[in-house]
Amino acid sequence: MVEKYAVKVPRKRAESLRRKLLSMGILDAEYKPIQRDEWIYFPIKTIEEKLDSMLAEYDAEIERIAFEPRPTNPRSLREALENKIPRELLGLIPSSYDLIGDLILIELPPELESYSKVIGETLIRIHPRVKSVLAKGETVGAYRIRRTTVIAGSQDTETIHREHGRVYKLDLRKVFFNPRLSGERLRVANGVKPGEEVLDMFAGIGPFSILIAKKCPSCKITAIELNPEAYNYLVQNIRLNKVEKQVTAIHGDAREVLRTKTRRFDRIIMDLPHSSIDFIDIGLDVCRDGGLIHFYIAAKSIQEISEEVKERARELGHEVDVEFAREVLEIAPRRYTIVLDLRKKR
Ligand SMILES: C[S@@+](CC[C@H](N)C(=O)[O-])C[C@H]1O[C@@H](n2cnc3c(N)ncnc32)[C@H](O)[C@@H]1O
Repeated sequence: MVEKYAVKVPRKRAESLRRKLLSMGILDAEYKPIQRDEWIYFPIKTIEEKLDSMLAEYDAEIERIAFEPRPTNPRSLREALENKIPRELLGLIPSSYDLIGDLILIELPPELESYSKVIGETLIRIHPRVKSVLAKGETVGAYRIRRTTVIAGSQDTETIHREHGRVYKLDLRKVFFNPRLSGERLRVANGVKPGEEVLDMFAGIGPFSILIAKKCPSCKITAIELNPEAYNYLVQNIRLNKVEKQVTAIHGDAREVLRTKTRRFDRIIMDLPHSSIDFIDIGLDVCRDGGLIHFYIAAKSIQEISEEVKERARELGHEVDVEFAREVLEIAPRRYTIVLDLRKKR
């Protein structure tokens, strides 16, 4: 199974929507549509602006769900591995993996490590456009880079990934990037109001900043990134997506960069879940009164972490309301990346 974006549409409108998606070149025919109750889910290749008006017309919505590749050629990974790995291990084959540009990132349990080569080669056979398959390790260090091992294909792991109709050049072995955050990036970008001054404190290769710039042509975004490799891609991606007039990239430590800034921001994205709490003082200082901070933090429970963060803000002399909160990703058993939308009180 592969996690993908889907257009969810009432059954009675499904056939005419299918034809429309096909004619627009958005329908992903490599995967089987899914029927659930009165709804049909069509897999789509990208989310594009032209979809917006169509969704309203067909009472349709965008969701992210797991699809099965069509059973003919290519087959599902588990099926394709029958006879290649011991039968008792087949159940351990992951039911989903990430496609990032022309790379696949897959998490393999230790029992499958000695079969990683055959698993990788099989994935390339199923997805002929994929050039490398990487096995996932831990995310480490200040730059939040995931340890990976190329298990099949090319050692060149630079790629161009498409997300919400934008393009991002990146090398998974040099920078942080997680396609599973794409829904969260869309949520944030859809909330931005015309004319806002936005600060992306831990910008990575730019997926929040660039999407916001595209969705809000009157917005100005300051994007700070510490990892020189990620900063390089950020600069290239700003150019590739033609948002140079709106996004200013700054290389450096957010604390140092912001120390000298007198400017205040309407909206701040603090996407550094393992240590965002160490930067909340600076985030609150540069947020204007009434402004919003999208604060990402690794924690077990929304309730507990909301109270902790509010208390920390109080100690720093600020009052915040948690306007919205949700678990964005499960990062370990019963541990999540949680987003808190913090409204700084006047
Ligand atoms: C979790 S990643 C998020 C990247 C990006 N928001 C995204 O959605 O892909 C955090 C990023 O913050 C950068 N970073 C870590 N410490 C930093 C600091 N003190 N100042 C600026 N950037 C920092 C890391 O190099 C990494 O690229």
